[in-house]
Amino acid sequence: MLRARFVLRCCMIVSLSLAISFSSTPLFSQSATNGVAGSHNAPAALTNPDIDSRVEALLKQMTLEEKIGQVNQYSAGEPTGPGSGRTNYQDMVARGQIGSLFNVTGASQTNAYQRLAVEKSRLHIPLIFGLDVIHGYRTIFPVPLAMASTWDPQLVERAARVAAQEASAEGVRWTFSPMVDIARDARWGRIIEGAGEDAYLGQAMARAYVRGYQGLRLDNPTSIAACVKHYVGYGAAEGGRDYNTTEIPERLLRQVYLPPFQAAVQAGAATVMSAFNSLNEVPASSNHFTLTEILRKEWDFRGFVVSDWTSIRETMAHGIANDGATAARKSMNAGVDMDMQSNLYFTHLAELVSSGRVPLARLDEAVRNVLRVKFALGLFEHPYVDESHPAPTALDPASVELARIAAEESLVLLRNQPVNGTPLLPLATNVRNIALIGPLADNRLDMLGNWIGKGSPSDAVTLRAALSEYAQSHGEQIIYAMGSGIDDNPDPAFSEALHAVRQADVVLLALGENGKWMSGEAGSRAYLGLPGNQEQLLETVVAVGKPVVLILFSGRPLAVTWAAEHVPAIVEAWFPGVQAGPALVRTLFGETNFSGRLVTSVPRSAGQEPLYYNHLPTGRPAAGLDLTRPPRNNDEKHKSRYIDEANDPLFPFGFGLSYTRFSYSPVTLSSTSASARSLNGGGSALRASVEVKNVGDRAGEEVVQLYIRETGTSVSRPVRELKGFQKISLVPGGSRQVEFSLGKDELSFWNIDMKNVVEPAKIEIWVAPDSAEGKAAELTITE
Ligand code: NOJ
Repeated sequence: MLRARFVLRCCMIVSLSLAISFSSTPLFSQSATNGVAGSHNAPAALTNPDIDSRVEALLKQMTLEEKIGQVNQYSAGEPTGPGSGRTNYQDMVARGQIGSLFNVTGASQTNAYQRLAVEKSRLHIPLIFGLDVIHGYRTIFPVPLAMASTWDPQLVERAARVAAQEASAEGVRWTFSPMVDIARDARWGRIIEGAGEDAYLGQAMARAYVRGYQGLRLDNPTSIAACVKHYVGYGAAEGGRDYNTTEIPERLLRQVYLPPFQAAVQAGAATVMSAFNSLNEVPASSNHFTLTEILRKEWDFRGFVVSDWTSIRETMAHGIANDGATAARKSMNAGVDMDMQSNLYFTHLAELVSSGRVPLARLDEAVRNVLRVKFALGLFEHPYVDESHPAPTALDPASVELARIAAEESLVLLRNQPVNGTPLLPLATNVRNIALIGPLADNRLDMLGNWIGKGSPSDAVTLRAALSEYAQSHGEQIIYAMGSGIDDNPDPAFSEALHAVRQADVVLLALGENGKWMSGEAGSRAYLGLPGNQEQLLETVVAVGKPVVLILFSGRPLAVTWAAEHVPAIVEAWFPGVQAGPALVRTLFGETNFSGRLVTSVPRSAGQEPLYYNHLPTGRPAAGLDLTRPPRNNDEKHKSRYIDEANDPLFPFGFGLSYTRFSYSPVTLSSTSASARSLNGGGSALRASVEVKNVGDRAGEEVVQLYIRETGTSVSRPVRELKGFQKISLVPGGSRQVEFSLGKDELSFWNIDMKNVVEPAKIEIWVAPDSAEGKAAELTITE
């Protein structure tokens, strides 16, 4: 791994103290579930008084133009959005007019720009290079939705650390990740980039990414600054259409959309990205309430806020500014410190500050925030990276192994029906002829999903490649046919596929979405079924009568309603990354077990969206009715239901099968009552526990999930809410007592007075394998 070169010269030029002392008392200590040993002091780096004095000393030397430079950012590489109207970045950097560049990769490229900043600009302030390192830099891990489906924050942290090491070796010290937007609507393409629909799980994943990227010390040259995005509400786009309006009442915002951001900030996230969407009629990139009142004043955020790509300019399209100067003023005054790509801070801030429309104090604050992060990263001490060695051509074997483990843990087994008396999976050892069909069976690029950093399709191992290798040593014959394209095949080769199927003992069908553009940014879909001819291919293949395993590759849950009734085995593989093939083969043949669980409800049809398990109750619940048929009478009709679709998902949040089975004992509580006053005052938490036993004949991992429902409260609370989870591993016959804590953090909510408190309530508590299972225990919260 390439390592940074220590360069002293620039630090002497700015004549600031080299000594950075970090608080010896970390704010967050290492918990048993964290992947990187030791304690993380990244949060402390942003509150370090020594860094603050260096920032002040530097700020005093800066001209207005130099200050504006620090809050100005452009994309100098492959674009991921509209242009800035400028290309003279070298000149601008040398004049101190740019604080950050992004989409620049490669040690020599980052160093070349950095030399201009450090050696040519008057104050020698280093650039910070950003990039969308979303699920890996060179080693591409499963997409974030899949990483969340592992329910394994420790694994996520380790993967983020690998990404940080690889990116930092090329000078990229800032990633635009994690995306922590809650996504309750699978039509929204960017559901692929986050942790799904639940805020509690979202918080756990947010912390894990921040810790992984930022490491034990932010100033370690292998650490990169996280950027938690898109602040805020972006995932609630109306109709699931990307960039669309969001309307989120404050309570819902605080209860669901803000917590993952707050968790990331508390874990020390150095930066935040303001979103594209308008939130309650005010664009998120000029929203003073969220950017200043909440982020700065309530949460004490000390890093900097960068806008999303041209989101400052887009406030004009939102209709709250009729010219660029107004757009720049509103965003800056609202709390956006750095302008990504709009070129409006650069163009208008000097005049805005001189005329007093943007207070100089506000600009100074923005510059402080940017410089603080640059100092905390140690960029003044280590502005360059070592370019004397060529970048490694092959991936690090340890990282590849981690990518395989992550892929295995992310696969979700949705269905596994018996064929001739035994579940179809794992595939029997006496299977001889396997037909491998489908447009995603042998497609390297799609295995990586979107946002692939510096990943290369040539590193990806497809299902076909891995299966062929397995077959060579185990004696199976693989008969491959693509059968159809993903979405645009006017003349599908069904006959070839059917020929292969007829010769087979078992069929593996690899279907789904295109990895690059059917989900992700601007990848919203109105239909949630299999694209193109694939449903037809599926039904044609199944009609032959051979046992079929459907393997879905997708960036969102797909409404595979027909398959859920007619195909004996279904695996949701998401986009598994470079080790897609080996992970699938090992799991399908039972060398390892399925342990992934859904983090997003799988819809029966797009018409059910937004669909999420933790919805509020309704005054006319349809419980107890047969919702698979239209209402028969007035009573059945006047319920909260569809007349042509069931209410419940095809597969619920938290769901996933295993090759073994687990039994759960009834939930026991350390006490069946507690007082709200005591819990609000920090009184001791209750404990809920169950015994989970592996009652099957294989080792396996279970994700034990704790849910609650509160009633009798001042505001209506969701029908269920996740408040704890543990992934445990059990040998056959093995059992474990699993215990959860229920204190203020788990039981409080934003009440009628908009206070986050525990209220007197009746609480149902489930500890269950998914959000639809289990028998509740009851707890009473008294005054
Ligand atoms: C726009 C996307 O919304 C954001 O997630 C990304 O980080 C930026 N472009 C930079 O590429």
